[in-house]
Amino acid sequence: QRVLRETLHGDRVVILANREPYIHERGEDGAVRVQHPASGLVTALEPVMRACSGTWVAHGSGPADRETVDRDDRIRVPPGEESYALRRVWLSREEERGYYYGFSNEGLWPLCHIADTRPEFRVADFRQYARVNRRFADAVAEEVTGPDPIVLVQDYHFALAPRMIRERLPRSTIITFWHIPWPNAERFGICPWERDLLQGLLGSSILGFHTQQHCNNFIDAVDHYLEARIDRERQAVVQGGRECLVRSYPISIEWPNRWAEAAPPPAECRRAVFQELGLGPDALLGVGVDRLDYTKGIEERLLAVERTLERFPHLAGRFTFAQLAAPSRTLIAKYRALNEGVERLAARINARFGSGSYRPIVLERAHHEPAAVFRYLRAADVCYVSSLHDGMNLVAKEFVAARQDERGVLVLSRFTGAARELTEALLVNPYDLEEASAALATALGMTAAEQAERMHAMRAVVAELNVYRWAGHMLADAARVRQRGRLSQRL
Ligand code: G6P
Repeated sequence: QRVLRETLHGDRVVILANREPYIHERGEDGAVRVQHPASGLVTALEPVMRACSGTWVAHGSGPADRETVDRDDRIRVPPGEESYALRRVWLSREEERGYYYGFSNEGLWPLCHIADTRPEFRVADFRQYARVNRRFADAVAEEVTGPDPIVLVQDYHFALAPRMIRERLPRSTIITFWHIPWPNAERFGICPWERDLLQGLLGSSILGFHTQQHCNNFIDAVDHYLEARIDRERQAVVQGGRECLVRSYPISIEWPNRWAEAAPPPAECRRAVFQELGLGPDALLGVGVDRLDYTKGIEERLLAVERTLERFPHLAGRFTFAQLAAPSRTLIAKYRALNEGVERLAARINARFGSGSYRPIVLERAHHEPAAVFRYLRAADVCYVSSLHDGMNLVAKEFVAARQDERGVLVLSRFTGAARELTEALLVNPYDLEEASAALATALGMTAAEQAERMHAMRAVVAELNVYRWAGHMLADAARVRQRGRLSQRL
């Protein structure tokens, strides 16, 4: 945190991200509730913002006509601590539908994830997307101080914004981070606005992805669809005398981790969660934590649990898998269908293997605050992250952070960015139910010594490659870009 502040040399940063770090809502009883949204982006960036202060510009949650606590455009957060500013941009229903549900989540999200969901591209959605990107670029320009601010643009909701911000603030240092995978050039080319998106992103000074593969895919896309000079050695794209560096920065979580530090000791968590779930002392607990999203492989996960019970009958009656699933983007038909599909599947498996009070699958389809999530992560024998495709996946890292006791086994999809760092997890192909069920059984039978050895190694990795390191690397690269800019102005 200190290194971060030093790297900034007193500069204030403005972050642009669609999601707010805190959602203030008035419940039916009239009381104000503050929620931490289920979002990897928020998990990673919020501690960075606490360390840097500055301003977070976001879409004010909830449709424009819903009763929120207040309608102030600018508030201080976190509640009670107030270490940075939150600027909220309120969107109309049409804007939210076209920009967020439409182009971002029915277009770009399936375009970038290999999960067999066809992207929908509608002209009206793209128009709203461009319009909303413009509105946010205006808001960023209002929030900055000085002529050469540092602006951190986040994720696929804002592919056009970097260029728009550059037009408004030509001397700004714009670091854009793409939190989801970037597909290969052929796939990217099916988007009717492929050039607009690339041009928009190239307004950045630095463009970051989780992996080198995604950087390569982006540079290939520029090569395919634009006239630009590409310096592959430096990983830079030059256009009109301006350079955009393309770099990989694997994202992470805060360490020491606030939620892990605050959670009760593991034995207490285990006792409480086992009691809540009605499990006996000999029971074995698996846990999954996700937004209800088709990229997370939740159905494949439940099928792997079913296959485990089929193949390893001694686990039937003993092994319970608790899936915490936060409903997400439910205005989109595909997500609603997934909600129903997961519910049906859990019921079928429970009918097949359940008996008496034993239910192999406990599906909790609700938002869970981080404190509750960490309690479950600490109580579990195994955590299974089965994403079909995932830029990073921070739940895997949170599980590691939760286990100060060095117990518990992580079963992790190879198709996550996290699998490149957490190599001591049991890595699986989530589509391969034989492999996944064998890994679950191995995890449930693993000796305490082997669990500790694996967890110890993973904890060392996450402790070192924490989110401050992630932000520090980007800001250090930005400082070099700024320095070079200042020197060349002197010539
Ligand atoms: C992914 C995206 C984030 C997003 C999060 C939650 O992690 O990369 O940008 O915030 O999903 O999705 P939501 O649509 O609820 O913000």
